[in-house]
Amino acid sequence: MKMVMRSNYSCRLAGFRWTAVVITAITVGWLMTSANGVLHKVGGAQGWNQNVNYTEWSANENFYVGEWLLFNFDKRYYNVLEVNKSSFESCNDQGFMKNITRGGRDVYQLTEDRPYYFLSGGGYCFHGMRLALVALQDQQQLPPAPALAPSTNAASPNSLPSAKMFIFLSATVISLGLHLMWDVDLCKSYV
Ligand SMILES: *[C@@H]1O[C@H](CO)[C@@H](O)[C@H](O)[C@H]1NC(C)=O
Ligand SMILES: *[C@@H]1O[C@H](CO)[C@@H](O)[C@H](O)[C@H]1NC(C)=O
Ligand SMILES: *[C@@H]1O[C@H](CO)[C@@H](O)[C@H](O)[C@H]1NC(C)=O
Repeated sequence: MKMVMRSNYSCRLAGFRWTAVVITAITVGWLMTSANGVLHKVGGAQGWNQNVNYTEWSANENFYVGEWLLFNFDKRYYNVLEVNKSSFESCNDQGFMKNITRGGRDVYQLTEDRPYYFLSGGGYCFHGMRLALVALQDQQQLPPAPALAPSTNAASPNSLPSAKMFIFLSATVISLGLHLMWDVDLCKSYV
């Protein structure tokens, strides 16, 4: 009697672990394939550096709201500052809007559909280290959420968190269902 109960308990424990793995895998997998996962490596292989033509680089990319920029640079010399249009044009690194510099492999999310301007301070802007781009709202890249939103034009950024929550909850329910099936099968074989 005792033996049966112990093995029953351990098979339940294993089942719960398995459930956690499935939930995590589904959620991570979804996050990685979502539009938010798009990462633009600024400057390509050359990264954020002197004598790269970022006008040319950005002309070959399409930027959408929710996507990310990756600035790869030597932080001993360079930094990344978000500035306004006039500061971008005059290479003015004073009174910047945002300092994006961290460790030299720094990411920045484009959260609004508007122009963005970046430059490196320390005079390096004059050596080409400035980037201007426009982030667009892309309705096609937003995850579909037909079960949640009545099919009006639900492409507002606000629909994103609820879509995420919906998919997460679905994954949880599916995993729990699978867990119950698996649990019952395994525990039967023990009894
Ligand atoms: C960068 O490339 C653009 C487009 O090809 C060109 O118009 C511009 O003069 C270039 N800038 C520099 C600093 O070479
Ligand atoms: C841009 O930022 C600079 C530096 O803070 C400031 O002097 C200037 O007035 C700003 N320009 C606009 C158009 O906001
Ligand atoms: C930007 O932030 C980095 C890291 O916090 C810091 O080391 C650096 O001094 C800052 N740069 C400016 C211009 O404020």
